[in-house]
Amino acid sequence: MNILEILEKKERKEILSKEELEYVINGFLDGTIKDYQMSAFLTEIDLLGLTEEETIDLTNIMLNSGDKIKLDIEPLADKHSTGGVGDKTTLIVAPLVASLGVNVAKMSGRGLGHTGGTIDKLESIKGFRTEMTLEEFENQVKRINIALVGQMGNLVPADKKIYALRDVSGTVDSIPLIASSVMSKKLASGANTIVLDLKVGGGALVESLEEAKELGTLMVKIGNMNGKNTACLLTNMDQPLGFAVGNALEVLESIETLKGNGPEDLNELVIRLSSLMISLSKNIPLEEATKQVEENLYNGKGYEKFKEWVEAQNGDINSIEVSQKTKEIVSEKDGYIKRIDALKIGKLARELGAGRLTKEDIINFKVGIVLNKKVGDKVEKGEKLLTIYYEDKEIKEEDILAAYEIVEEKVEKPKVIIDMIK
Ligand code: URA
Repeated sequence: MNILEILEKKERKEILSKEELEYVINGFLDGTIKDYQMSAFLTEIDLLGLTEEETIDLTNIMLNSGDKIKLDIEPLADKHSTGGVGDKTTLIVAPLVASLGVNVAKMSGRGLGHTGGTIDKLESIKGFRTEMTLEEFENQVKRINIALVGQMGNLVPADKKIYALRDVSGTVDSIPLIASSVMSKKLASGANTIVLDLKVGGGALVESLEEAKELGTLMVKIGNMNGKNTACLLTNMDQPLGFAVGNALEVLESIETLKGNGPEDLNELVIRLSSLMISLSKNIPLEEATKQVEENLYNGKGYEKFKEWVEAQNGDINSIEVSQKTKEIVSEKDGYIKRIDALKIGKLARELGAGRLTKEDIINFKVGIVLNKKVGDKVEKGEKLLTIYYEDKEIKEEDILAAYEIVEEKVEKPKVIIDMIK
């Protein structure tokens, strides 16, 4: 077997065996298969796809490339978002679910490109520790039902190495590559319930609903086949989620949501994600789980758990600072908001310093954008559309206004939850 033969076989659109896929992944990991050969392989997958069976094999090979976390804790639930703008759901869902006795032992990522990462958001809370030993992590979950860290152990090294190459070879949006990347990591982190939040739209990795359904169905199948209770929500990422975009601003919005004052779309999504995690973990109907979740969202128990969690990881909840320099942007005309381009808003927030373009960039936690209106809202000329929180970097008013489309006719509010795959 050699890489050239495998590349040619794929080019002929023949199905690859598990041994051939293993040969490529293991060879890439040990350096015998070079970056340029792997790029060619990833590009072939991007263009020609993989069968369901090949994707399942690829996921298992990646899963077995490193450590797997096995905690002696039940029930253990995990969630994963494919990434979006203003997506702070983990900060709300994790303590809410933990407050109902379902354990959350989660590993999260940093933001790259126009999307934010949970770890960066949490680091805007002064002192918050995002690194722990496995023992500390396990003990904290046993003690307070929740712990969240950045990296731990050598989980799915194949994904780390492949993802870095996908990022620079234009293959991040391939369905079998996303499915194997997400599911190998979720399976390695040991939870028995996995709830996926697959973002769809202009600010997401997957733009078309048809592709999202295919990806969601595949990921749920892979999870279930591995004995995990798995569900996937397809959710709207045409406009930012909630109002706040930017690290400290998003933490403050999460706190407000946990106090029962969240924006409508964010509220609806965190309730559904949490209810699915509870329903699958406790094996109770979704309606019953939703009742429990709503109760702990509105009686303050979710917020109490958030405070306990932040304190356990050394964070000072009173330390969250946002920039004092602000600029309001107002509407140039009367009408209804038809579009707030999530991708543009994400990129502009990054320009302010809220995100990074390369892994080395340093984030300014205090900056970002807070929307005042969402799609479907009525707006009058001169009325505030958003506030920019800036420090040393500024953005042009005309650039941010270009993210908006305001029309005369009434616009329906878009649904945040588009579909559910179980
Ligand atoms: N998130 C991941 O972890 N992997 C992907 O490929 C896409 C989103």
